[in-house]
Parts: sequence; C-alpha cells; structure tokens
Amino acid sequence: MAEQAVIVRDLTVRFGDFTAVDRISFEVGRGEIFGFLGANGAGKTTTIRVLCGLLLPSEGFVRVAGTGFEQGDRAIKTKVGYMSQKFTLYNDLTVEENLSFIASLRKLGSNFYVERRKELLEFISFDRSLGTPVRDLPGGTKQQVSLAAALLHDPEVVFLDEPTAGVTPASRNLFWKLIRKLAASGKTVFVTTHYMDEAEQCGRIALMREGRIIALDTPEDLKRSVFPGAVFEFDPKTPLSFAEVAAIEHLDLFTFFEPYGLRFHAAIRDGEDWNRARPELECKFNIRRIKPSLEDVFIKTVEGKKR
Ligand SMILES: Nc1ncnc2c1ncn2[C@@H]1O[C@H](COP(=O)(O)OP(=O)(O)OP(=O)(O)O)[C@@H](O)[C@H]1O
Ligand SMILES: [Mg+2]
Repeated sequence: MAEQAVIVRDLTVRFGDFTAVDRISFEVGRGEIFGFLGANGAGKTTTIRVLCGLLLPSEGFVRVAGTGFEQGDRAIKTKVGYMSQKFTLYNDLTVEENLSFIASLRKLGSNFYVERRKELLEFISFDRSLGTPVRDLPGGTKQQVSLAAALLHDPEVVFLDEPTAGVTPASRNLFWKLIRKLAASGKTVFVTTHYMDEAEQCGRIALMREGRIIALDTPEDLKRSVFPGAVFEFDPKTPLSFAEVAAIEHLDLFTFFEPYGLRFHAAIRDGEDWNRARPELECKFNIRRIKPSLEDVFIKTVEGKKR
C-alpha cells in the first residue's frame, strides 16, 4: 500500500517556553480532504508551517508526500503547495506577473510554466485578462488565483489555510467545488476553516484545542461520539432573555444546552429520565429530536463548555 500523504507523530512546536503544538499525531491519506478546525490560536497554522517545510519541529516526526526534514526543507517544499492565511499575491502586479514571479522562485521551466498556467486558469475558470492587476479582482477570484499559484509546481499535497475567510457564500461554494475536484484528481487537500458547512465537506476532521488534537474522525462519527445520546431542539414559544434561560428549571438534566440561532440545542445527561421534566419545559418550548450539527460538536469540544 502506498505511504500516507501526511504522517505526523508526536509533533511539538515551542516558541520559547510557549508550546503552540503539543505532541500531535495523525495521518492523512492520498486524495483525502482533511479538515483542521480549532479556535483562534489553537496551533493550526503552526502545524501547517511545519508540514510545508517552513518551520522546524521542536520534537517529533513528520513526513509529507514521502519526504521529511532529514532530506532538507527544500525536499518538502517541492512536494507541497501552500495557500497561506494571509493573502500573499502582490496586489500591484498583474495575474500573469504574480504567476510568473512564483514560477521563477520555484525555478519552473518556461514550457512547463506556460502549460501549467493554462491548465490552472482553466481549472479555476478564469475568464479575465492575465494583465488584470490582482487588486482589481473580486475577493473570490483573488482566492482562486491564489490557489492556482499554490498549485503551479503541481504539488502532491496542498495546504489551504482558511482559504475562504472573508469571501461571499457563493464564492465559498465555488472554491469548495475546486477543492473537491482537486481531491478527485488524486491531490491531498489539507484545509483549515472556521465554517462548519465547509467542515462537513471534509472526509475527516481534526479538532484542535490549545495545541492538541482533541478529536479526529469523519463528520458523522464525530457527531455520534460527541453526542452518544439524544439531542433535542428547544424552540422558545416566546422570546426568552438570558436571565430567563438561566432560570429554567431542570437544566441540570442536560450535558449541553446552547443557543443555536434563536433556538437551543440540548443533550440529555446519560441515563437521565427527563419525562418528569418534559411537561414543564414544554410550556416554554416546542421540543423536537434532532441530529446534532457539527457546530454543536465544535461548541461542546473545542469551546469546551461543560455543564
Ligand atoms: N512565531 C511565533 N512566535 C511566538 N508565538 C507564536 C508564533 N507563531 C504562532 N505563535 C503562537 O502560537 C499559537 C498558535 O498560533 P497559530 O497561528 O498556529 O494558531 P491558529 O490555530 O492558526 O489560529 P487562527 O485560527 O487564529 O489562525 C498562538 O498562541 C500564537 O500566538
Ligand atoms: Mg491560523
């Protein structure tokens, strides 16, 4: 069996005496869309920088597309594409100038570059002039050109760090179509996002908190393992203030009771029989059983609210 695209064992990254990544281990299969989720500062970008050969680990072992730091960081860099969290194209340069600049940094041959540029511009359905300054592109198109730039040297694994932050929902959908196409063509996609609808589209997700991976599974299995019991939606019959919610009797029956838009999602504590409380709660809420959402999983695990 071919080696996994990404192998990480006991990876630790320290900055001085601060541990940003704390002994994480995981593997990503070839052609997988692997999601990396976590609150701000959880260590996602730091992990990606190691996996792109940009930052030496303090401890631990990494292999990306069959290469590691033993072969020098250059070896990793040729195997990976990286779309960083900060927009990295030059606004003052045209699309063509940006791409050819990256091609020269990557020392790509001119025939290869021209062929690859054509392929990628088709891939992102780029329909403007190559002479357009990047500054004049709409946000979604800028992100797509950034993706093309990250793919220019035809890497096996691409790291996309919040690629859709700040773009419109329609552009996010288009971008995810490209991600799925990439994975279908055999590329491995490692992506971070704060959007749960995007996380749903990943094959597997790692949830990170304070430098550690606290859960890793498919979206469906994460929901099952984080919420093994029944989950209900509570829809207030009349709008409730925070104080009124806090004063609701029987909240101790729940391991989870969190606002979800104007409603609440609630999970019953294991082994609790809440039939005795239900009539009273039904005076205030319409209650129905639901499937937990990934957002529920995120709130319960990453934001770590315990009841
Ligand atoms: N070069 C550095 N020197 C010192 N501390 C750093 C450095 N880079 C990152 N950190 C710290 O490491 C922690 C993890 O940062 P990182 O950027 O990896 O988080 P993140 O999960 O990507 O967060 P976000 O969702 O905000 O992008 C943060 O506390 C950050 O301040
Ligand atoms: Mg980050």
